[in-house]
Amino acid sequence: AVSRVEIHDRIDSTNAYLMREAALGMPSGVACLAERQTAGRGRRGRVWVSPFGVNLYLSLLWRFPLAPAALGGISLAVGAVLADLLHAEGVADLTLKWPNDLLWRRRKLAGLLLEVSGESQGPSHLVVGLGINLRMQTGQGDEIEQPWASLEEALQGRPCPRNRLAGKVLDVLAGALDLYGREGLEPFAELWRRFDGLHGEPVRLMLGERVVCGTHAGIADDGSLILETGGGRMRFQAGEVSLRAM
Ligand code: BTN
Repeated sequence: AVSRVEIHDRIDSTNAYLMREAALGMPSGVACLAERQTAGRGRRGRVWVSPFGVNLYLSLLWRFPLAPAALGGISLAVGAVLADLLHAEGVADLTLKWPNDLLWRRRKLAGLLLEVSGESQGPSHLVVGLGINLRMQTGQGDEIEQPWASLEEALQGRPCPRNRLAGKVLDVLAGALDLYGREGLEPFAELWRRFDGLHGEPVRLMLGERVVCGTHAGIADDGSLILETGGGRMRFQAGEVSLRAM
């Protein structure tokens, strides 16, 4: 369960903060929210644009008795439960892009950044960071280099108060992390597949300098991405997927 919630007016990054505190012994289940981040972190070293007051920036620290290697599928598990939550809140046309980008009509609605630390044999801790675009104001989106959507737009007039949403997100995340710790990815795989927005589509996977083209064939039981390529079926643990024009 969530053991404590900290709300900061301004912070460098809710993820960076919990990673620092975790190293100093902060207990499992602490959540951190901020009105604004001065150094919001995205995946692959990108910046997460984090203006004051309009969006949701939230992180949750979780400790596992498992070694870091056992946490491989966790980013899909949290993506799946969050997609399910936003769908239940009324967002239609919501899809997941492997491993866990939340897209609305192919534009980014929310992003997840998971950071793990621990010895290879011993227990590990994880920080799950979530940024949801709630209602980006005109002009503020100019710095974002990918197409994005806001929850306000995706809900098309349905109300979704920020505090209530934050409470639900924390509940759902804590429940998912707890279940993953006991049963792994298995209980989440079907849910993930339900939101798989690229199944059967031609995609490109960027792996550092390497590019692999193929048809998106869903996820394997360990959460890896399956591509049908000219050279056969291949599985990938990392990389960045994008849709490829035919
Ligand atoms: C992505 O690139 O898609 C992941 C974005 C994750 C952003 C969130 S906002 C709260 C938390 N703190 C950070 O610095 N990043 C994550």
